[in-house]
Amino acid sequence: MTGLSLPNDTGAITAAEIDALAARHYNATLQSIAKIHSDLCILRVVPDAGLVPFLPGQYLSLGLGNWEPRVAGVDPEPLNAVQQKRLCKRAYSISCSLLDDAGSLRRVQEFPYLEFYVALVRHAARRPPALTPRLFALAPGARILVEPRVAGHYTLAGIPPDADVIFFATGTGEAPHNAMIAELLATGHRGRIASAVCVRARRDAGYEAVHRELARRFPNYRYFVLTTREPENLDPAHPHYVGKQYLQDIVRSGQFERDAQLPLDPARTHIFLCGSPAMIGLGPQASPTAPLAGSMLELLQSRGFIPVSPARPGNLHFERYW
Ligand SMILES: Cc1cc2nc3c(=O)[nH]c(=O)nc-3n(C[C@H](O)[C@H](O)[C@H](O)COP(=O)(O)OP(=O)(O)OC[C@H]3O[C@@H](n4cnc5c(N)ncnc54)[C@H](O)[C@@H]3O)c2cc1C
Ligand SMILES: NC(=O)c1ccc[n+]([C@@H]2O[C@H](COP(=O)([O-])OP(=O)(O)OC[C@H]3O[C@@H](n4cnc5c(N)ncnc54)[C@H](OP(=O)(O)O)[C@@H]3O)[C@@H](O)[C@H]2O)c1
Repeated sequence: MTGLSLPNDTGAITAAEIDALAARHYNATLQSIAKIHSDLCILRVVPDAGLVPFLPGQYLSLGLGNWEPRVAGVDPEPLNAVQQKRLCKRAYSISCSLLDDAGSLRRVQEFPYLEFYVALVRHAARRPPALTPRLFALAPGARILVEPRVAGHYTLAGIPPDADVIFFATGTGEAPHNAMIAELLATGHRGRIASAVCVRARRDAGYEAVHRELARRFPNYRYFVLTTREPENLDPAHPHYVGKQYLQDIVRSGQFERDAQLPLDPARTHIFLCGSPAMIGLGPQASPTAPLAGSMLELLQSRGFIPVSPARPGNLHFERYW
């Protein structure tokens, strides 16, 4: 149990109780957990009942019992005996490997597992992070809950086959984009496609190699990684200093359009935003019609894009993670 800690040391829950709770709630097996580094991983999960149909871009919930151990170095989570027997569940976008073991491009539904791209949350403002410290303690073969109900309107529904499609993500917000990009490329989408992800450090771009390979194979696909905490972002004395590069910066300056060779034309372009609500522009005091100053929603609406809403169709799609 090195590096892991049990929910508490009172021993309130017995091994027999844990076995019974796990047998009652868990319905899937962790096939693999690939650690990109200590705080970022790709999980592959196989539900006992097989894969349910879903659309690229949708999400479902994963769950583990509060009785499961947590990795070390995260906020402590004191739990009483009743809380220890409960489940913690969180929503996760279904990600996609894009290339199979033979290097062939596959649509997300063609893989024999569900893939998830998950960041370890070590500290959180309001309450200790519940699920990721437990997910990161799992080993292949572990049992887990996969909620069978797939949800979400952050999909390619209504995208014309010759539209230009741009995906902007922070961190693991890239996950649903991977599934949508696989779909577009595998079905011969005629418009141009670009994906840009903003991460703290280069090593946080967990799918970079596969996207570089796809950009090599598909002339209508481009992939970009921006960083914010590498030496060239932080040290003005660095020979290649560029400062912190947010997605908003490369859109506002025109750099994105130049590098992607893709004009931001609302008449033929759909844009997808996923990840941090601060990047998207949402928060307690903000909404799609009154987004945060300096956010992507504000910037792109000023360029003529229209956020999708239940009331009207648009060309600016967004999914916030918290
Ligand atoms: C529709 C939807 C899809 C999601 N898909 C993913 C996904 O594919 N991958 C993923 O890692 N997370 C995803 N999330 C977030 C996920 O549901 C959990 O909130 C997250 O994994 C942290 O869980 P936790 O219980 O450890 O901490 P929580 O108590 O849930 O979160 C604590 C705090 O951590 C921060 N946080 C949460 N998620 C992230 C994140 N991904 N990156 C950076 N900071 C974060 C926020 O400040 C949040 O308030 C998604 C959320 C939603 C609503
Ligand atoms: N990535 C790591 O190495 C690392 C290490 C320790 C802990 N963690 C934890 O892991 C979780 C995930 O971290 P993460 O780095 O994947 O996600 P994140 O904190 O959401 O950051 C992803 C990227 O979004 C940028 N960003 C932040 N605010 C923005 C805004 N208003 N507009 C546009 N972009 C913005 C970040 O830049 P900034 O540099 O400005 O934040 C970063 O480059 C967090 O809970 C974090 O505490 C991560």
